[in-house]
Amino acid sequence: MPPSLPSTMRCVEIARPGPPDVLTPTRRAVPVPATGEVLIRVRAAGINRPDVFQRKGSYPPPPGASDIPGLEIAGTVVALGAEVSTPQLGDEVCALVPGGGYAEFCTAAAPLCLPVPRGLDIVHAAAIPETYFTVWNNVFDRGRLQPGESFLVHGGTSGIGTTAIALAKRWGATVFATAGGPDKAAMCERLGARRGIDYRTEDFVNIVLELTHVRGVDVILDMVGGDYFARNLTTLAPDGRLVQIAFLGGYRAEVDLRPIMVKRLTITGSTLRARPVAEKARLAAALREHAWPWLERGEVRPLVHATFPLEAAAQAQALMESSAHIGKIVLTI
Ligand SMILES: NC(=O)c1ccc[n+]([C@@H]2O[C@H](COP(=O)([O-])OP(=O)(O)OC[C@H]3O[C@@H](n4cnc5c(N)ncnc54)[C@H](OP(=O)(O)O)[C@@H]3O)[C@@H](O)[C@H]2O)c1
Repeated sequence: MPPSLPSTMRCVEIARPGPPDVLTPTRRAVPVPATGEVLIRVRAAGINRPDVFQRKGSYPPPPGASDIPGLEIAGTVVALGAEVSTPQLGDEVCALVPGGGYAEFCTAAAPLCLPVPRGLDIVHAAAIPETYFTVWNNVFDRGRLQPGESFLVHGGTSGIGTTAIALAKRWGATVFATAGGPDKAAMCERLGARRGIDYRTEDFVNIVLELTHVRGVDVILDMVGGDYFARNLTTLAPDGRLVQIAFLGGYRAEVDLRPIMVKRLTITGSTLRARPVAEKARLAAALREHAWPWLERGEVRPLVHATFPLEAAAQAQALMESSAHIGKIVLTI
């Protein structure tokens, strides 16, 4: 480790499972990059709903990952582990990490570091990795969304939802999005959705079927589950794909299975955090090839709702749990 680096750092740890105030500012040893890793001086760290679940005790870090929360960071590479050729010392990067983001320093697998896109500041760069990796993996790889197809995302104003609307629209799909309340539905349309649907007062099944002339959509990205599962099957077009990435509305469902057979539907889903670095590296390469040029040309842009200093991580997570936010919440360090 370079002698110029401190031996300890500021960070935020989860003192015990519980409400936001269990997030406790503290000091820990600066982590040492292993073979194939780099050490990043973190300047901004994105917050994601999985961090909230980790804090509550229902989403433990995978084996080998830091118990400090935080799945995405942006900052400067300050040390290299063995066998790292890129990125290099001094590079400004954003990175997907399996934990440890709420800290002054964080290690990251070298292939999961991407350059800060030209034209974006460090806060917006930190808001990219978790949702961009997730959306790319689920909408384009697993969901096989094609230009010209139609796409429905639930939770359209979430971090995931705002990214999914932007990327699917840029990809050339017709996008529909659900969200809670008229303001959020209107925001989905400003972000590129053909129709934002306020699920509190509107029925997404009827609206999507009407707007697609009863055909339905080709791909659905769903984070709600529960009774949405059966309704999603009704809303899919022949050969449609349902991609399940979370169960905010419950993970049990009673469902009429016939549409799966009659419409030849595909039901899939995935998690990201515990997957091997090699699999995530393939996603990083795809993002670099497709999404980075869009980011650098300003054709897509992460939406940052609010920033908080690192020590205010509890307030930041409380805001996320209130669901009052639209887009991403980022910690600055
Ligand atoms: N599988 C994966 O690889 C993967 C990766 C990352 C995230 N995720 C999951 O994707 C989901 C979104 O993550 P995020 O970080 O984008 O979250 P987020 O920004 O906090 O947004 C979540 C949104 O979901 C909506 N929602 C719908 N039903 C809800 C319910 N029953 N309880 C709470 N919120 C509800 C809320 O908006 P409304 O006001 O519109 O209801 C809320 O703002 C989370 O469940 C997360 O765990 C999965």
